Parts: sequence; structure tokens; C-alpha cells
Amino acid sequence: MKGLILSGGKGTRLYPLTYTSAKQLVPVANKPVLFRVIEAIRDAGITDIGIVVGDTAPEIQAAVGDGSRWGVCVQYIRQEAPLGLAHAVKISRSYLGNDRFVMFLGDNVIQGGISSLIRQFATSDWHCQIVLKGVTEPQHYGVAELDGDGRILRLVEKPREPRSNLAMVGIYMFDLHVFEAVDAIRPSWRGELEITDAIQYLVERGYRVYPYIHRGWWIDTGKPGDMLAANSLVLDEMEHCIEGLVDADSRVEGKVSIAAGAQVINSVIRGPAIIGEETRIVNSYIGPFTSIYHHTTIESSEIEHCIILENCRIVDLPARREDSLIGRNVVIVRSPIKPRAYKMTLGDNSRVGVL
Ligand code: TTP
Repeated sequence: MKGLILSGGKGTRLYPLTYTSAKQLVPVANKPVLFRVIEAIRDAGITDIGIVVGDTAPEIQAAVGDGSRWGVCVQYIRQEAPLGLAHAVKISRSYLGNDRFVMFLGDNVIQGGISSLIRQFATSDWHCQIVLKGVTEPQHYGVAELDGDGRILRLVEKPREPRSNLAMVGIYMFDLHVFEAVDAIRPSWRGELEITDAIQYLVERGYRVYPYIHRGWWIDTGKPGDMLAANSLVLDEMEHCIEGLVDADSRVEGKVSIAAGAQVINSVIRGPAIIGEETRIVNSYIGPFTSIYHHTTIESSEIEHCIILENCRIVDLPARREDSLIGRNVVIVRSPIKPRAYKMTLGDNSRVGVL
């Protein structure tokens, strides 16, 4: 069995963070979402993984390499434009050959426990298995309607009037019959070859398509709020681990991970929280559900429920920073120069809430 990860696309909903970088590489609890997906596939015993890439291919290839770090063999499949999930399957045909495969969206984070599901599919005679999850707003997802015996009746992409609350989670398992389906379907109104239509084709032709209802959490990290939600859920499951320096004047409460080379000086860290390598926290408060990536400095500031990426410098903030997603190399400092005024250099589509 092979793995296929979809890591093309544009990531418009995470602008400006994803103007210059791939959304799949934004870290959740200090580990890029894409790395979590690779680990989930590897943990199911799969060693051959194809990654579909688009414009952000160089960055993804630089971060993942040949996969040997995870003990897997990664190959890249170039998609010339994000023409849909079923299009990504179509262009991966020569890589996949006649093997059964599991396909993951590279920007979804799912609570563990699906390895055995994937292993079972590897040796079954099913043609397709999809993972479903009950959600509160099914109209935003591909929705499955099941019959009384739990078999799939119909799949509809973003229905106006959903007939169930079961959304398709970004994990799909197929055998080679999916190629017949992706060749047969036509682009949807949004110009994409929809995987929902391909699976509906398999259902209509009588192929064995089975649903699995996932009980744990699942987050599609499309929007900044989703990113923070995924971060909180992963931090909640993390192990307490202090490898860096915490000085005698600091206090660490709850589940906290402090990486090697990090320093916490005269500060309070209230978990769950994670501090990356070579990051310095000085005279500050870091509150629950916060991830601070590597080589960042936080000084004389209060931060809670945030994701802060690498090489940032945040010094002397006048108010507590909450619910924020801060990109790479960002500097936020209090200017001593009068007149006192906010001075900002922000990328396109940035959002700042000021007092
Ligand atoms: P989406 O979130 O559906 O699309 P997107 O990445 O373009 O995001 P946005 O809506 O914010 O513009 O994509 C889900 C995943 O699948 C994501 O990891 C990108 C990937 N993908 C491809 O690899 N090829 C494609 O043709 C599409 C549509 C998505």
C-alpha cells in the first residue's frame, strides 16, 4: 500500500501567512502539519509516500527531502494548478500504479487511532473507504448520507441543505478503480475535479465503498482560528518535557515542553504550552495553549493562546496578546520615540486588533 499526500493548493484562507510559504508547513504545537501527516502514514506501516505539490514545491521539498528522516521514501508529483482533489489523484496514476493507497490532505490534523483502519484496508477487498466525522456545519464540507445499515447512499459537496451531519474528513482509501472514476467525472461549477464526485461514481457503479466514523477530533487547518484550535488540541495531548533552561526565578505550571537550547528567565509558563529551540522568554508570562517556535525572543510581554513562528522578536508589549497567529521574522516592539503612535509594517491582508 502507498500513501498520497496533497500538498498543492493556494492556501488563500491563511493569507498573509501563506503568501510566501506553504500552509502545510505552518506548525501546530511546533511541528508542521505536513510532518504530522507523514508520521500518521508511516505509523500505519506505509513506506512509499507521494506528495502532490504546486507552486510551493521548492519549500516543501526543502523541508521534507527524501523522507529518510521518517524512514520512508518520498517522491514528489507536480500538479500544474490546484484543479481539484480528484485531479491530484489523476496525475498521480503512474506513481501509484496498481497499488492500493491512502490519501491524506496535507493540511488536516486528526487525533490518532486510524493506523489500524488503514492496515485493515490494505488487506481487504473493498474498493474505497472514507472517513466521516459528525460536524455542526456540514454545509461547508463534502457530506455523506448513509442508509439504515450504515452504507453510503450519496455524497454531496457543500450541500445547501445537508441530509446528514457527517462530513468527509481528509482521509480516503482507494484501489485502482478510482482511476476509472476520476477519468469519468467532469469539473464542478468551481472548475475542480471533485473527489466527492469520484466517490459518488464508485457508489453508483456498485463498487464496495465503506464509511468509517471517526470518534476523535479532526481539524481542517484552513483558517487562522482552526489553526489555533488544532494547536490547543495537540498541546493538550503533549507530554511534559523540559530540556532547556528554566532559571530559579521562573515558574513552570502544568504540561509544558521546553526544547533544548531554549531559555526561560524570570518568567511564568502556564501549560499546556511549548517553547522551541533557542527561544528566549525573559520577564514574561506565557499562558495556556501557546506555541512559540524556534529562535524567537519574547521579553517583558504577556502571551496566551497564540502561535508564534520562528525568528520573531516581541518586546515590551503594553497589553496581553491573545488568540493570535504571528508569522516568521516578525518584530513587535514598543517605540520610545515620540509622538507615541502605532507604527506598523504589515503584509497584505494582515489583521491587527488594537486597544
Ligand atoms: P483546500 O483547502 O481545499 O484548498 P487550498 O489549499 O487551495 O486552500 P484555500 O481554500 O485556503 O485557498 O485543499 C486541501 C488540501 O489539498 C491542501 O493541502 C491543498 C491540497 N490540494 C492539492 O494538492 N491540489 C488541489 O488541486 C487542491 C484543490 C488542493
